[in-house]
Amino acid sequence: MILDALIEAARRAGDHLRRRQADLERIAIETKGLNDFVTAVDRESEDLIVSCLDERCPGIPFLAEESDDRKAAGGERWIIDPLDGTTNYLHGYPCFSVSIALETGGDIVAGVVLDPVRDELYAAERRRGATLNGTEIAVSGVRDLAAALLVTGFPFKILDRLDAYLAGLRLLLQRSSGLRRDGSAALDLCYVGAGRLDGFWEFGLSPWDVAAGALIVGEAGGRVSDAMDGPGWLEGESIVAATPAVHGDIVAALREAGVPM
Ligand code: 2AM
Ligand code: CA
Repeated sequence: MILDALIEAARRAGDHLRRRQADLERIAIETKGLNDFVTAVDRESEDLIVSCLDERCPGIPFLAEESDDRKAAGGERWIIDPLDGTTNYLHGYPCFSVSIALETGGDIVAGVVLDPVRDELYAAERRRGATLNGTEIAVSGVRDLAAALLVTGFPFKILDRLDAYLAGLRLLLQRSSGLRRDGSAALDLCYVGAGRLDGFWEFGLSPWDVAAGALIVGEAGGRVSDAMDGPGWLEGESIVAATPAVHGDIVAALREAGVPM
């Protein structure tokens, strides 16, 4: 079963991430542009995932953060983030994850996100619901932005749009019951799916950051779109994911703030 393969791959990578945290100081860090760090452990984790998936489901191409696309548009592919929350990981801030999804014909059909620190495994299959450690999860019943606890990520790539982002942040800070910024988009999405948080938005992300988590939110009864309320959340570099009622409020606030421009 696909989900079993995803879970095994995520667990192998998660165990490795935890083991390697012990030698963090010796891990070489290279710079890949402003604030963009990539570590040896990222690549090791990715190699573990790819070899596990290849063993169990041979021949499916993949898109992963640390590698070039192993191709095939339109067909099937794995979408892999071997370490989401790299900056947290490097600092010993215990909020990072492994995220793996399967895309088929343009749809995300299965996804797994593992938080190896808390040993929390989120999983979803299209039209079959979402689970946390095997127990079904659902988005919260929060219907009102004023009662919603939101989470976001800062735009690290598109600093030219920082003012627009901050205008949206300002409105949502004023109108919600609180804001968090934790640094792993995949986990932010899972927390919305599990009803711990009520809405998430971010700009400048890549498919591997959001593929699995967005499926988990959708299967948990939430709504996922890009910032214009369109379908471009996977490739389009903006995402809003929330309970159905809160989703509309976030999109409206971003529009009112002139985001995206
Ligand atoms: P990453 O740790 O895999 O890079 C946080 O806002 C989200 O943005 C995380 O999911 C993080 O994933 C992603 N991200 C990508 N590049 C980043 C960068 N240079 N700095 C901070 N977060 C980055
Ligand atoms: Ca990531």
